[in-house]
Amino acid sequence: MNFHILTLFPEMVMGGLNTSITGRAIDKGLISVEAINIRDYSKDKHHHVDDAPYGGGAGMVMQPEPIYDAYEALAARTGKRPRVIYLTPQGQVFNQKIAEELAKEEDLVFLCGHYEGIDERALELVVTDYLSIGDYVLTGGELPAMVMIDCISRLVPGVLNNDVSAEFESFHDNLLEYPQYTRPVVFMDKAVPDVLLTGHHKNIETWRRQKSIERTLERRPDLLKDAVLDKKEKKYLEELIRQKEEKETKKL
Ligand code: ADE
Repeated sequence: MNFHILTLFPEMVMGGLNTSITGRAIDKGLISVEAINIRDYSKDKHHHVDDAPYGGGAGMVMQPEPIYDAYEALAARTGKRPRVIYLTPQGQVFNQKIAEELAKEEDLVFLCGHYEGIDERALELVVTDYLSIGDYVLTGGELPAMVMIDCISRLVPGVLNNDVSAEFESFHDNLLEYPQYTRPVVFMDKAVPDVLLTGHHKNIETWRRQKSIERTLERRPDLLKDAVLDKKEKKYLEELIRQKEEKETKKL
């Protein structure tokens, strides 16, 4: 999978993504990441890429031409016209489902804005998707692009060491991940749950599913409405809810 990032700060995104798991995935050729410096497409002798907004107002606006030209150059070079994601708090909020959908693409372009935004015409001409990473405002689109590329990369086969782990983590079946333990067996008087030491795979699997359900009910009950549970698990959840309600009525 090939990621192309249109940015004014190539070193920011490359520094982050060349590190750790995404860095190893790049080295192995499982993904590629290129940062395209929008400034390289400025025709201005001082390489300006922004100007004051028409109609007045604070700040500067990124001009349409360098962005348009950067995308067209990418399209000409690759012979493809990949989807272009504009990172903006005005977009749909990114989530695991969107990541899974985007992971099906062979190429993705991320357009990172700065200053007060990008001339609307550039957006109309090149952008296909508007995405946000949450309801807060950042100084630019680079961190959101890195967040999304990190998340999408780990869905690319081979990027995680362990092929099953992408599936089994948080949000698999819309449940949060169960708690994990490693050596030592006892730490600060806290012992690893016995079942994990038994080697009994079926019991361990049941325990982990139950912990996932408990944890989701406690921390993210909003996820449970779309959780994938079998009959026994539904019963288990109903019992947890009943106990919780009982506790709450006792408190009152
Ligand atoms: N640019 C600035 N803030 C952002 C956010 N929350 N998500 C995506 N892009 C942004």
